[in-house]
Amino acid sequence: MWRKAVLVALLAFGMGFLYQTDPELPARVLNYVSQSLPHLEITASSEPHPQALEETIARAWQSLISAPARRWQRVAVGVNACVDVVVSGVGLLQALALEPGSGRDHEVLHSKEDLKEAFVHYMGKGAAAERFFSDKEVFQRIARAAAEYPGAQVRQNLKGKELYVGGNAALIGQKLASNPQLSVLLCGPVGPKLHEMLDEQIVVPPESLQENDEFHLILEYKSGEQWGPSQAPQANRFILSHDLSNGEMSALETFIASLEEFQPDLVVLSGLHMMEGMGRDLWEERLQEAVVAISEVKNEVPVHLELASMTDQDYMNRILHQVMPIVNSIGLNEQELLFLTQSGGGPHADVTSWNGVPDVGRVSDILLWVLENHGRSSPQSEADLTRIHFHTLAYHIMATVDGHWANQESAVAAGARVASTQACGLQNVDISKVLLKAPLNFYSSFSEPRENLRVDPTRPVTVWHRGNVSFHLTPVLVCKHPLRTVGLGDAISAEGLMFSEITPTSEL
Ligand SMILES: *[C@@H]1O[C@H](CO)[C@@H](O)[C@H](O)[C@H]1NC(C)=O
Repeated sequence: MWRKAVLVALLAFGMGFLYQTDPELPARVLNYVSQSLPHLEITASSEPHPQALEETIARAWQSLISAPARRWQRVAVGVNACVDVVVSGVGLLQALALEPGSGRDHEVLHSKEDLKEAFVHYMGKGAAAERFFSDKEVFQRIARAAAEYPGAQVRQNLKGKELYVGGNAALIGQKLASNPQLSVLLCGPVGPKLHEMLDEQIVVPPESLQENDEFHLILEYKSGEQWGPSQAPQANRFILSHDLSNGEMSALETFIASLEEFQPDLVVLSGLHMMEGMGRDLWEERLQEAVVAISEVKNEVPVHLELASMTDQDYMNRILHQVMPIVNSIGLNEQELLFLTQSGGGPHADVTSWNGVPDVGRVSDILLWVLENHGRSSPQSEADLTRIHFHTLAYHIMATVDGHWANQESAVAAGARVASTQACGLQNVDISKVLLKAPLNFYSSFSEPRENLRVDPTRPVTVWHRGNVSFHLTPVLVCKHPLRTVGLGDAISAEGLMFSEITPTSEL
């Protein structure tokens, strides 16, 4: 009986807290509490149950997620693919017989010494960085050392699997291929190692196969890790590659050409961000060619574009004006959304960084701006963009122009369920390993007129409408001790697509 008393006290405490933020809430919470108590008593048989909300949300997802009426049969994915080699950064530098020393940033790495200096520079700050290594031969020697570095095999929890499928397109392809009814085509620079790691169900056109893999070395370090005089204030990673194929999106034309024969009913494109690193002279021309290639996809086949981290505002602005209007759907996270509005002069462009969980009202304003200014929110518009799948650690939003998409509630919930399981390395949500971090009360916009909204844990997808756009929000059950978060955004977008349905009227 004391367990129930503890539980009630906890819930009462929770309500007191909620009351301060929303005086209307307690009646509804009480209602919800009284509905859930009987079942809590059963599950809380061995100890008190402080995770009632998480449990309710996970259960509610299970019953609300349903397959779309019409599923995709054939999905073509391109064009960035590589092999991620994850190693201890310090361990690798030691294996390369490098001595600790002082740090110094280099825009491009030309030698092992440059690598050491840049690594030490970023490790001392605990900041993430990604650099191009210019010398092909030296890079390959480092990659071989990394792949053979024994420390890579004893990494905790990874059980010797130090090589991973990398690149957004390959990761999205892998996730889609977990669906047995789906035919998946992957185009990108696929070397022998990557080919071996890909799901058998994935078809790679022969023109996409290349002799060598594109290795991306991910040099990890732990919080507090020390090497000579430098110490990492927090855990992070330093990434290096000598990846010309992905940098030039060299598989793009092959990809577009292969669509004729493969006849997909959905095309997923990623890797545009890779070109940015090649410098303006190259990307100006190459982006123009990419726009031409993408426009060649048949009108009735929807195209989803997965964005990734970019740093050049001009480049982002070009994508906003030239690429977004010719795709039907985009997937992006909070960093990319903020950079998008800063680059394109959208709402809240003055926000320099999200402080903690991104404010839902601000996110909603930016999503609406993208769809109204660069999408098809009005039937008179020439643009094709009608869907945005936004993901951040604590919650996801699916914003769609009315009349073009169906099953959004399932799609956004399915994406959040994947985020809640995959980060913990699990197939199902484990309530003891996750935490709700999303606000349960929020506004539909940052400025007036705005609606006061809440998440109902028993029906955890909140819907609101602005203009011709519908928003579907669901919280994420955030993994407390994530094993591996690389590719999480790709998995979320892939899952969201699998549960999405384009309505026939919009294909006309
Ligand atoms: C919404 O759609 C209507 C017609 O269906 C159109 O007249 C109107 O301009 C659209 N609104 C916006 C903000 O695009």
